[in-house]
Amino acid sequence: MSMFSESLRAFLKPVVPFLDDPEVSEILINGPKEVWVERRGKLHRTEIVFTEEGLLAAARNMAQYVGRPLSEERPRLDARLPDGSRIHVVLPPVARRGTTISIRKFFAEKLTADKLIALGSVTKKVARLLEAAVGLRLNLVVSGGTGSGKTSLLNVLSQFIAQDERILTIEDSAELQLTQPHLVSFESRPADRLGKGQVDIGDLLHSALRLRPDRIVVGEVRGGECFHLLQAMNTGHGGTLTTAHANTPIDTLRRLESSCLLSGVELPLVAVRAQVASAVHLVVCCERFADGTRKVTHVTEVLPLDERGEYRVQDLVTWQQTARDADGRVRGTFVWHGARPAFFARLAASGYGDLDERYFGKGFDVPDELPPEPATGELQRAALPEPPRREPERAPPPQRPAQARKPDAPRTPAPPLSKPEPRTEESSIELDPELQREVETRLPTESTLITRNPLERGRDDDTQPGTRRRT
Ligand SMILES: Nc1ncnc2c1ncn2[C@@H]1O[C@H](COP(=O)(O)OP(=O)(O)O)[C@@H](O)[C@H]1O
Ligand SMILES: [Mg+2]
Repeated sequence: MSMFSESLRAFLKPVVPFLDDPEVSEILINGPKEVWVERRGKLHRTEIVFTEEGLLAAARNMAQYVGRPLSEERPRLDARLPDGSRIHVVLPPVARRGTTISIRKFFAEKLTADKLIALGSVTKKVARLLEAAVGLRLNLVVSGGTGSGKTSLLNVLSQFIAQDERILTIEDSAELQLTQPHLVSFESRPADRLGKGQVDIGDLLHSALRLRPDRIVVGEVRGGECFHLLQAMNTGHGGTLTTAHANTPIDTLRRLESSCLLSGVELPLVAVRAQVASAVHLVVCCERFADGTRKVTHVTEVLPLDERGEYRVQDLVTWQQTARDADGRVRGTFVWHGARPAFFARLAASGYGDLDERYFGKGFDVPDELPPEPATGELQRAALPEPPRREPERAPPPQRPAQARKPDAPRTPAPPLSKPEPRTEESSIELDPELQREVETRLPTESTLITRNPLERGRDDDTQPGTRRRT
């Protein structure tokens, strides 16, 4: 089956062999004279050349195909073709070396937890932890850079959702492939040529929350909708899964925080932080390595804010690179830090009795793809250095002062670092009473919360920079 319509294939003739090659995942056209392809995660330059006119015609054809403007005034196009492929186009002179196009192919083949294990992206043990996290309805954010495998992992995590749940998915471009029977899927829509008809993630979230979801899966949060999503997570919509563009767990929380600030809701910074820290239970970071592999690099628990109103997190398991082979392959091990998560007590009761004390004990866990060595845990200890015993990580000092904090406001004592307070489902953050009152009065009711920063409205257009990032 061809990936593109016949006319589009005619325009893209020089790269058609790559469109049809299942090993090629992306085609990157940097002007007519330079075409790269990603094959098995690695970029290769090809011999292909286009003519500038031919390439421009291909770009225009794509725009026509999806009914979006692409012109002198609007030289950028972000779109998904009906077969699921994602394209991005930038025209000259903005693109200095000529019409620039990227095509990320859509693979119908589904990634599964077993495949992730076979690829060395996780181990069985890590995968089981993620399965339990979804089963326990923790709120989970997958983070990573562009192409690090966030969406793919979100897809795998979604497979752990029970068959009897009513699932609402919200995405900018439909990439999730859930197979559960009770599924409602929404896809956002940019404005048309006349600037009309836009339906964004925030709008869809607004609808989703009124459609009695058991579970909300959001492709990616990056705008003001983040605030409302976190609020939903904090008020009974447990088990929410989403992704964010960030590299470390603390960065992820900061990213969510800055997205919240786009919501146009006025709140003291510390209250936004409290919202973030109490909404998100686990952050799972992904990374793309130089050898083209993708790995889960952190499964990290988010703890309540510290006494200064800053983030604290606790790594449960992290990836540690130990070597690079002569052929460039990255070697390493998953390190279990010996931290017992706050949800530990609920595991046995929910059918995850195998995730016991030993499971979370300090140890190493080597991906299965490695040559035969004792597989996991205790046996490995002798051969490998002692895993670091980490105190829960604290965020570096904030950039801006927390405005709401009155200098003489009474504070609840911070929980001791080594023994974080267990979080409860409902409320895991204890703000000092005065602040709590302020948060409550400032958090208007849900319907009035769907306010927007008027400046954001105009800019939230997929042909403007910085909004529809392809991640
Ligand atoms: N665990 C993995 N191992 C190898 N390749 C992967 C893995 N996860 C994703 N990929 C590939 O990496 C590319 C980017 O994945 P995607 O999930 O879209 O990343 P992101 O959402 O972070 O931009 C896709 O081509 C996908 O097939
Ligand atoms: Mg993605």
